[in-house]
Amino acid sequence: MTEQILTQHIIEVVYLIASALFILSLRWMSSPTTARRGVLAGEIGMLLAICGTLLHHDIVDYKWIAAALVLGTIIGIPLGKVAMTAVPQRTALSHAFGALCVTLVGTAEFYLQSPNISKFTMTVLSMEIILGGLTFTGSLMAAGKLQEILPQRPITYKGQNVVTLSVLAVAIGIAGYLVMHPGATYLFPLLIFIPLIFGVMLVVPIGGADMPTVISLLNAYAGLSAAAMGFVLNNKLLIIAGALDGSSGLILSVIMSKAMNRSFTNVVFGAFGQVAAAATGMQEERTVRSATPEEAASILAAANKVVIVPGYGMAVAQAQHKVRELYDALTKKGVEVKFAIHPVAGRMPGHMNVLLAEADIPYDRLIEMDDINGDFPQTDVALIIGANDVTNPAARTDQSSPIFGMPILDVDKSHTVMVIKRSMNPGFAGIDNPLYYDDKTLMLFGDAKAFVGSIVRELTGGSGH
Ligand code: TAP
Repeated sequence: MTEQILTQHIIEVVYLIASALFILSLRWMSSPTTARRGVLAGEIGMLLAICGTLLHHDIVDYKWIAAALVLGTIIGIPLGKVAMTAVPQRTALSHAFGALCVTLVGTAEFYLQSPNISKFTMTVLSMEIILGGLTFTGSLMAAGKLQEILPQRPITYKGQNVVTLSVLAVAIGIAGYLVMHPGATYLFPLLIFIPLIFGVMLVVPIGGADMPTVISLLNAYAGLSAAAMGFVLNNKLLIIAGALDGSSGLILSVIMSKAMNRSFTNVVFGAFGQVAAAATGMQEERTVRSATPEEAASILAAANKVVIVPGYGMAVAQAQHKVRELYDALTKKGVEVKFAIHPVAGRMPGHMNVLLAEADIPYDRLIEMDDINGDFPQTDVALIIGANDVTNPAARTDQSSPIFGMPILDVDKSHTVMVIKRSMNPGFAGIDNPLYYDDKTLMLFGDAKAFVGSIVRELTGGSGH
């Protein structure tokens, strides 16, 4: 008995340390300089949480746990090795696994405890099952859309939002009935099944374009369901970790929506991809000026101040190392080079920061949108590398544009604008960019990695490779 109490105390202490590490991890991950430490703290916290749980006296046999660990490792290792552009869908899959786990644990607890289940426990257990179920199928749908296994376009029909919300209302109604009558076990399968359908209905009408925001919202749901599970299992660590996960997911969704000037309701119910797709066909026949790598190199070499604006195309081309060579070559020539970071450039939060850090570009050269926008009028050249929407002045001027109101990088205020991209094709929002027709703009058509490489060769007299 005393041994059990001692073990219980050890578990509590281990959980406390793990919780503190999770909080520190989030704190440290908010800055690129401490992000690695943050990841490490999170990993150690999770290891401690697992070890603490394994000490639990209720565990009588470790056979199945060992089998699950081996299986989880076999699935987890390849999942950790996907390309960076596939991280959003990989994250969605992780949420799906987590949510499935929460739903299964909740189901087991219901059948273990029913009908002697308190109103409070049944309430949190219902939350756990509803949030877990909808997150499971919703995340699978989101991953499928991003991986292009499922159609990216929003699938909509008249009265859809009413139907979808009615389905959720039915699930909540059943949950309410079960709270009052926990012996009505025949209803429980419906409480599992309906949220699974709801998850599909929730994500299918949202365009592939909005999936990163949806994924971070699903992250919040997964966290909340885990916190609810913590109440059911009376496990404080799960409550804390779930609450951290839930709130950070929600904050991230808010940041992303704000950076796109969209409201939550617009993301969830707006079928954005459809509007954007409709706008694609409206391009006018206008002329653009283009330039060669030699011309671009001489303009850059003659500049005092250059601001590089990276975007999704830099990620696709994996051009970050060539961009580093360009930074070195220009800096050597006495040109001041900064990088302008838009909060939703690329396809996931921090996408550009991660790529540029990978190429060892100094952190202090990476300037956030709000801080760099004042610099553009004094900038000789804004060099855009595979970015499009985040530089589109229509967001400031064209009220009919789907991205009207989205904060953008004011590149059009610099003296010369150069844009590296392969064609006149639109970016993520599927809309034309008037910047390309501006007199001060030069289009540098080509793959980002190849084009930057050619500029570097010109600047270094052929020594760049
Ligand atoms: P986009 O507007 O998507 O534009 C990327 C451009 O890169 C494209 O126009 C494309 O033009 C070019 N490109 C593609 N491959 C290339 C290559 N190999 N070499 C050179 N260029 C290449 O990107 P952005 O400006 O970074 O904006 C991000 C968009 O994603 C925004 O609309 C944002 O709202 C959305 N979004 C972002 C997030 C996060 S969290 N980052 C989340 C949700 C939505 P070509 O085909 O002509 O080459």
